Amino acid sequence: MTTTQPHVLVLNGPNLGRLGVREPEIYGHASMADLEVSAAKWGGELGLVAEVRQTDDESEIVGWLHEAVDTGSHVVLNPAAFTHYSYALRDAAAQVTSAGLLLVEVHLSNPASRETFRHLSVVAGIATGTIAGFGFDSYRLALSAVATRLQT
Ligand code: DQA
Repeated sequence: MTTTQPHVLVLNGPNLGRLGVREPEIYGHASMADLEVSAAKWGGELGLVAEVRQTDDESEIVGWLHEAVDTGSHVVLNPAAFTHYSYALRDAAAQVTSAGLLLVEVHLSNPASRETFRHLSVVAGIATGTIAGFGFDSYRLALSAVATRLQT
């Protein structure tokens, strides 16, 4: 008997393609390409297929959230700056959880300990949960949470 491994889209918003060169004192020295390698490895260990994507374009990430609904993919989402003001992203993300799929909001840094404008997440209210402040480990923890939730 063959089983299909759950698919997880690991979606990243604006400026995260600059990881490694962007404010490394906050976001670290590893790149988005490094995250792709790590997420694929963690996903494999957890029995998931993790696919990492990044865009600076709001309409593209909204489209990927629609795709998650239409294909039954769970989502790990780092909305980056969209976190703080994009109702379009929030409404698209709401469709994921409304469809019974998991959506974990992640952040490399801890926005709550940074500038005031970062304290509000318009996505958090519709997310399954949020993990922030652990660098790349935020993504590993999010994938682990998805795998655990799917087992229970
Ligand atoms: C971020 C935090 C956001 O406030 C910021 O705009 C980002 C990255 C993080 O991963 O820590 O671009 O989402």
